[in-house]
Amino acid sequence: MIKVLFVCLGNICRSPMGEFILKDLVKKEGIENSFEIASCATSSEEIGNPVYYLAKDKLRKHGISCEEKRARKLKQEDGSYYDYILAMDSWNIRDVKRIVNQNSEEKIYRLMDFASNPKDIEDPWYTRDFDTAYKDIEEGCKCFLEYIINNEKNKL
Ligand code: 4NP
Repeated sequence: MIKVLFVCLGNICRSPMGEFILKDLVKKEGIENSFEIASCATSSEEIGNPVYYLAKDKLRKHGISCEEKRARKLKQEDGSYYDYILAMDSWNIRDVKRIVNQNSEEKIYRLMDFASNPKDIEDPWYTRDFDTAYKDIEEGCKCFLEYIINNEKNKL
């Protein structure tokens, strides 16, 4: 089982898009039973709230539902539980490091560091550009999955 946790600031835009895009990709590959995929926030602002409607709209347009999702906050134990903690930007990485134990730090990655064009996923909550956020996150998820398929064959 490969346990993946997406992390962003609020857990209502970027990390839920990551969670549900990756769930969709592994399902299409027929390898969904090898994964546990979730997402959470580094801040407490949006805890308990559903996915922001503009992020939800983007997912829906791609045939992906995220109705049940509610924002939850990253906790220290997530660091030991998950195998891959995928942060959306460098600020998230700094915040994640503050919450999890030091010995979990090697599991923290920036999502787009798996892609050929490493960069932060800019926060659409502020940029209002949900098209770019979706496109970047989808690319990051595809590249992450390719990495897993190439490097974690024994777990699939
Ligand atoms: P996210 O976007 O980190 O992609 O979920 C945000 C959503 C809400 C807030 C910040 C970022 N907020 O401060 O409420």
